[in-house]
Formats: sequence, structure tokens, C-alpha cells
Amino acid sequence: MPASALMNVMLGAARKAGRSLARDFGEVEQLQVSLKGPANFVSAADTKAEEILHNELAKARPGYSLLFEERGEIEGADKTHRFIVDPLDGTTNFLHGIPHFAISIALERNGELVAGLVYNPVCNEVFSAERGKGAFLDDRRLRVAARSELADSVVVTGIPHRGKPDHEPFLKELKSVMETCAGVRRTGAAALDLAWVAAGRFDGFWERNLRPWDLAAGIVILREAGGYVTDLSGKDRILETGSIVAGNEAIHRKLLTQLKGARTPETGVAAPTA
Ligand code: IPD
Ligand code: CA
Ligand code: CA
Repeated sequence: MPASALMNVMLGAARKAGRSLARDFGEVEQLQVSLKGPANFVSAADTKAEEILHNELAKARPGYSLLFEERGEIEGADKTHRFIVDPLDGTTNFLHGIPHFAISIALERNGELVAGLVYNPVCNEVFSAERGKGAFLDDRRLRVAARSELADSVVVTGIPHRGKPDHEPFLKELKSVMETCAGVRRTGAAALDLAWVAAGRFDGFWERNLRPWDLAAGIVILREAGGYVTDLSGKDRILETGSIVAGNEAIHRKLLTQLKGARTPETGVAAPTA
């Protein structure tokens, strides 16, 4: 399917910023072995990518509002449209020379997410979707995996780290999920986690305390790939709450129940004994 004008704008911006990130990632691989480490360099790479994305998107769609991770909310003359952008999702991976990170760009129209693009510049994979037009990995149509049992499923999550809240509920959830599923993964880039569920590489995903720019693009891609996604209470308030559960219809439903049960074991689903 030929890309729309909007998708060409988002893709052009992502590729330009991606070239900059990929160049800087090459440097990080050298810097990370030095004692000083690459932290300042990485934050400069992040800011540079955001600058490119800002310039490209604002030039192509002047007036649209913007929400960037680093520079925050920029209200435009057109308040019905808003780009939501993470210039570098997977910063910790980038910092450690792990080639798993992405640029994430979504477009919201009248408060509804209508387009999403997640671009991994290292392996040059572009995940994209527009509402009603399907989801794609490059030119290939995406569909979520068909597995319907948690026992057969590989589920990805985000582990809260130092300085992040909710370690205890996460450990309860993890215990329950790891006893129930075929495998649990942590990749360190939420936008790619969602895109990979859309691509059928992972069967399910859950995480909490995420921000709109981590999630917005991946949500559109996942829904267009036939996936289901809600917050941890089963409602649609994902961007507001920052919590997310995703999968195909069956896995989403079962994972949601499993996670609820893990937090309130007396009413929930017991993990099967092996
Ligand atoms: C992070 C990644 C990670 C998630 C973190 C996010 P950043 O985004 O998406 O997978 O677990 O909570 O903050 O900081 O690399 O843009
Ligand atoms: Ca992020
Ligand atoms: Ca980021």
C-alpha cells in the first residue's frame, strides 16, 4: 500500500533522526569502555534527535501541537492535531551499547490516536499504522500472534528500576506470570515491545508508569494489527494512567485477569502448579 502524505512526513523525520542516532550509537560503542562513560554524550544524542524531529515535523505540519519527551508540550495554532514523540526509546540500551532502541512518533487527532510509527535505526525496521488502514513492518502487513493460551505465550514487560515506584506489585505480577507463561522477556524499549506484539514476536505485554510518548505510536500499531490494549484496570485510560496490558483478544483478557489476580490473590486466578 502506498504510504500516505502523513506517513511520509513521519517516516522522513524518523529516518533523518535515525541516521543521527545510529551515528552516535557507533560512538557510544567506543565510549562505553572509557571510565567516564558515555552518559553526557547519550543525552546530547537524545537532544539532537529530538531537535531533528521537531524541525522536520514542524516544517511539514506547521501549527500542529507537539508533545516531546524532553521539551514537553508545545501548543500550536491547530489544537486538534498533536504529534507525540519519543526521540529515543530505550535510552539505557543505547547507553550500554545494546542495539535495541527506537524513535516513536504518533499523531493524535481530536484526542484520538490516528497514526503511529516506531523506527529501529539499527536493524532498519519501520513499524507503522494509520487508523483503519492496517499495520505494517516495512511493506509487510502485520498481525498479532494467534496463540490463545498463556501457557504457550511469551510475554514482555518492563521491570521498574532504581528510583521507579511499584517494585512490590510488579514482583507479585511477575511471579504469577512467570509461573503461568512460556517465557517472560524485558527488552528495555516499550515502543518496540508494543510493535513486537503487533508483529507476533511477543504474545503479550504489560507495564506500568509509562508516559504517553512511550506508548502512543505502539498502541495504534498494535490495534491495527488486530491487538487488544487497555490499562491495568481493563479501561481505555492508557495514556492517562501509564499502565498497559496488550495482546490478541484472548491473551489480553487472560493476562489482565492473571495480573489482577496477582495483586488481589484472594479473588484472583491461582497460578497452576507444575
Ligand atoms: C523507557 C523504556 C523502557 C521502559 C521505561 C521507559 P526511555 O523509555 O521504554 O522500556 O521500561 O519505563 O521510561 O527512558 O528509554 O525513553
Ligand atoms: Ca521512552
Ligand atoms: Ca526517551
